[in-house]
Amino acid sequence: MARGFFITFEGGEGAGKSTQIRLLAEKLRAKGYKLLVTREPGGSPGAEAIRHVILSGAAEPFGPEMEALLFAAARSDHVEQVIRPAVQSGKIVLCDRFLDSSRVYQGGAGNLDPAYMQEMERVAINGMMPDMTLIFDIDPVEGLKRASSRRGAGQADRFEKEDIDIHQRRRRAFLDIAEKEPDRCIVIDASGNVDSVENLVTAAVFAGLEARTKATAGRAKGA
Ligand code: TYD
Repeated sequence: MARGFFITFEGGEGAGKSTQIRLLAEKLRAKGYKLLVTREPGGSPGAEAIRHVILSGAAEPFGPEMEALLFAAARSDHVEQVIRPAVQSGKIVLCDRFLDSSRVYQGGAGNLDPAYMQEMERVAINGMMPDMTLIFDIDPVEGLKRASSRRGAGQADRFEKEDIDIHQRRRRAFLDIAEKEPDRCIVIDASGNVDSVENLVTAAVFAGLEARTKATAGRAKGA
């Protein structure tokens, strides 16, 4: 059976990832693709239990290293229980946040040793690198406004509560990843309305799927 396609969605708070994942999923299903839609932290029963510990802030007093380990543990379970089986069965997997969020939120802001972060990433994903990563880029001031109007003021999670400077640094860090890994990452300008962002996402994903089909056909011919 042909291998599926693994797409991750990354970016700051309120960039509109979830809405766009929903719209893309509808479009792909209508075209007959088999899909799995998932998210991090979470996505498997073990990882959802860890999600609660992290996002409630319960792990925060133990420091950034502990939080990074918890994200990695959740990711490992999610990869092995959910993502890898789905990709191996030929599905397109749409995942809301993945390893780049750990690089940016824990690695960038937490002052953690890059070698430690890399090793943890290697163990957590165990070769399951995304085929394509869409990085939703938006000014954090706008993003946080959207995030708070979406869920009502006063209920910000552990990460939304942080300083605007930190959110600006994260934006830069996501863009740096995109620059360093242009074959995997595509920056999506998320500042426009839902329709205009949807057009950018659709164009990027369908181009990626077409390239994959051509590459697979080329390999079959050459074989
Ligand atoms: P969530 O409510 O899923 O937010 P969003 O809609 O922004 O994706 O919360 C996830 C939070 O966890 C988000 O603030 C980013 C953070 N996070 C990390 O810090 N590291 C990680 O590896 C992941 C996956 C998420």
